[in-house]
Amino acid sequence: MKKFITLISILAAGSCFAAEADLNEAEKVLFEKGKTLYMSNCIACHGPDGKGVVINPTMAMAPNQNGSPRVADAELFTRILLKGLTGPIEGKTYIGVMIGLEASQTDEALAGVMTYVRNSNGNSYPAVTAESVAKTREAIKDRKTPWTIEELLASVKKEDESTE
Ligand code: HEC
Repeated sequence: MKKFITLISILAAGSCFAAEADLNEAEKVLFEKGKTLYMSNCIACHGPDGKGVVINPTMAMAPNQNGSPRVADAELFTRILLKGLTGPIEGKTYIGVMIGLEASQTDEALAGVMTYVRNSNGNSYPAVTAESVAKTREAIKDRKTPWTIEELLASVKKEDESTE
């Protein structure tokens, strides 16, 4: 009986996880790797809950990434992680600096951290693959500096037009 109860609680815990992050087995592995990277590389500015570390009512290290349209859109998210982001977002500026990670992180590592962010703290979006990160990395390889939001949005639009 005890064994049976243990089994039921394992199944219940498993299904809770699946409800928050509707990921397959391979994606869950990616999620876990991404969580580890987040907890070492992003947490200082974005906080354990993704809301951004707040210094005082007018100053924060980084924006709240939960529910952000740049997190919901995997292509924009990938471009931010590869090159970094600068300048105000929705009229607000932040103390932290969002540097690009293209030189320090692999496609798989970036896919993992995005899969984690997109499936934690209330976010629920599909996993990101290393292949799609590799494609974006190649497409924007000539850019050297962090995006402003305006440049970021324009970069996606420009490529849409050129592939029409
Ligand atoms: C040193 C501080 C710092 C670190 C470390 C950092 N970020 Fe950021 N992040 C920022 C700041 C500051 C911004 C906003 C930049 C701006 O104002 O243009 C930002 C912006 C973002 C955005 C865009 C949010 C939006 O709504 O547009 C995402 C997504 C993001 N970061 C994810 C990450 C992830 C994932 C990591 C770890 C791999 C990370 N950041 C590491 C400071 C940081």
